[in-house]
Amino acid sequence: MTKWLQRIALFSFVLALALPQVAMADSAADTYKAKCAMCHGAEGAGKAAMGTKDLGSADIQKMSDADLNAAITNGKGKMPAYKGKLTDAQITDLVKYIHTLKK
Ligand code: HEC
Repeated sequence: MTKWLQRIALFSFVLALALPQVAMADSAADTYKAKCAMCHGAEGAGKAAMGTKDLGSADIQKMSDADLNAAITNGKGKMPAYKGKLTDAQITDLVKYIHTLKK
């Protein structure tokens, strides 16, 4: 019986360690879904009607993190600026998220 309890305690401990990381990965994806997907597509593939390119394409992936960050912070063409609407940390996470869309 005590062994069993120890196992539950160990399992909860491991879960508690793992959770913050899951939450972080989720939040960039959630921000993307809430603020970006309507123009860039659910999977970042782009929408012709909006004039957005595939975020996973070589064209976008070869942009530096600083350029991606600047595009989100200051806007670009028809894209609105997110300065003041998203925190710097959220924008940095979004840049990382864009890299996960690489083809
Ligand atoms: C109202 C529609 C719209 C929304 C909302 C929007 N974008 Fe954009 N985005 C665009 C358009 C259009 C461009 C292309 C601008 C150009 O090249 O003239 C663009 C360009 C970009 C670029 C630069 C790559 C390129 O094509 O030059 C990045 C990175 C980007 N968007 C990320 C995001 C992220 C992240 C969000 C959410 C926080 C977001 N966008 C929200 C319309 C939008």
